[in-house]
Amino acid sequence: MSKRDFLRLTDLSLAECSEVYGLATVVKRDPRGERKRALDGRSVAIVLEKASTRTRASFEVGVSQLGGHPVVISLEGSQLARGEPVADTARVLERYCDAIVYRTSSSDRMTEMATARVPVINALTDTGHPVQVLCDVFTMEEVLAANGKGPRLRGRKVAFVGDGSGNMARSMIEAARLFEFQLHLCAPPGFRPPAYEVAKAAELVVLHDDPRKALRDVSFVHTDVWASMGQEGEAETRRKAFAGFTLDARLLSAAPPDAWVMHCLPAHRGEEIDDATLEGPRSIVWQQAENRLHVQKALLLFLLGLA
Ligand code: CP
Ligand code: NVA
Repeated sequence: MSKRDFLRLTDLSLAECSEVYGLATVVKRDPRGERKRALDGRSVAIVLEKASTRTRASFEVGVSQLGGHPVVISLEGSQLARGEPVADTARVLERYCDAIVYRTSSSDRMTEMATARVPVINALTDTGHPVQVLCDVFTMEEVLAANGKGPRLRGRKVAFVGDGSGNMARSMIEAARLFEFQLHLCAPPGFRPPAYEVAKAAELVVLHDDPRKALRDVSFVHTDVWASMGQEGEAETRRKAFAGFTLDARLLSAAPPDAWVMHCLPAHRGEEIDDATLEGPRSIVWQQAENRLHVQKALLLFLLGLA
């Protein structure tokens, strides 16, 4: 059987996502249950070329809760920082580890890591954050079910307000296509997603100029930082370009009163979201962050054929 990677959301079919979500529900209910030795004797490399709190901690804890050994390799202190090719790193890690979780900048580096003979999970590049969005769809469906609104996101409206050219928005577009929800995306000019990515999800992605219009009738409102990792030098320009895009009570008044607010975190309070909204009753960001642990454990088991 050939190895399975998770480099983009559509590397899984809808049915496979359902399988992962079913398993995530099981491991969430009983983190130390029957799966606690599932990775016994196995190791997972977590290679981080950019900063991380949630991704690192959730994968590291997740692997150890499954009885495996996580090997965290940060850029600084590794030979990657001294120019060792990613492909060489992949050829070595595949000999020690059963899977590789990788966070980097470019898709090319991700593709190079995926030459490893073991499953590679994309833990963020500049153009996508598929593992976050896989977990976020689980959270949205969990919240819908818990509130008696049916178990599936399919056919519902979700808004994304903010940087449409960033990794989160772009993975959300892919998610709209896979899970068949309607994504209402509003970003200022110059920060819209690439047209070819929108075109692939044609009738499921609606672009807006006015953030208030994007929020009409949605079940969830999602956002992300205005300046992603590596774009710190553009922070001031971006603050100006994104004026009026802060998720606050004024903007949220355009959404239904029962719409939930999401953010992948870390948040820049006062920029893309204000403190009151992040901490308010409509925010599900902490549940969203927690589910990284459960869904990623399920994803690892699935990719390793241990589901
Ligand atoms: N949301 C997310 O991926 O967080 P980290 O950058 O802290 O891993
Ligand atoms: N868009 C953000 C996501 C962080 C999890 C970034 O790339 O910095």
